[in-house]
Amino acid sequence: MIYMLDTANLDAIQKAVDLYPIEGVTTNPTIIARENRPFKEVITSIRAIIGPDRMLHAQVLGKTAEVMLEEARAMRQIDADIIIKVPVTPQGIKAMKLIHQEGIRITATAILTPQQALMAAMAGAEFLAPYVNRLDNICGDGTQVVAEIAHLIDIYGLNAKVLAASFKNVQQVHEVAKAGAQSVTIGPDVFDLLLVHPLTDSGVAGFVSDWDSVYGADKTVLDVI
Ligand code: E4P
Repeated sequence: MIYMLDTANLDAIQKAVDLYPIEGVTTNPTIIARENRPFKEVITSIRAIIGPDRMLHAQVLGKTAEVMLEEARAMRQIDADIIIKVPVTPQGIKAMKLIHQEGIRITATAILTPQQALMAAMAGAEFLAPYVNRLDNICGDGTQVVAEIAHLIDIYGLNAKVLAASFKNVQQVHEVAKAGAQSVTIGPDVFDLLLVHPLTDSGVAGFVSDWDSVYGADKTVLDVI
């Protein structure tokens, strides 16, 4: 599983890079706007935290494929390794073909159906981002869409990965993991919840208390070897 963090908040990114095995950061225009800082500064600050080897995804906003291509080129001037997010509109699919021709990596975004994902993969997208919670919110089945995209990747031997997105709870993340998503991008709040269980906390507290009663408070293995 490739874990990514879905945020532009620098504190949250710093924390996640420190604690978790994340391989990238994804953003979208809403996430960037929430920071209310110059776009270029947000991108370069994120890159400074995540380093050269992790992925950074940022989205184009143009209404035509030609403008999206120019945006992709401009973002590459700021960050040579940036992965360009393109929505699966008709102009977006055209833009993916153009951007792919230039050897720039692409994440297809705003995916709600398996056919949108298949078309994006054929146009050169490397990551396919279905919006799980937005589907679940309207009586859709986000997990089923993820499973069908994973199946299409498999049967057509596509050079693409599901990047499941838009999560509001841990169960959604777990369901797409079981459904074959190769990667997920998760907001900081839900990411932290992936590790939460009260029995883990009480179990660890019990170990510490039993240890302390014999070896002394705040002593680690290092103190007794
Ligand atoms: C990722 O590609 C999406 O931009 C993001 O996960 C959407 O999440 P939301 O539905 O919580 O806005």
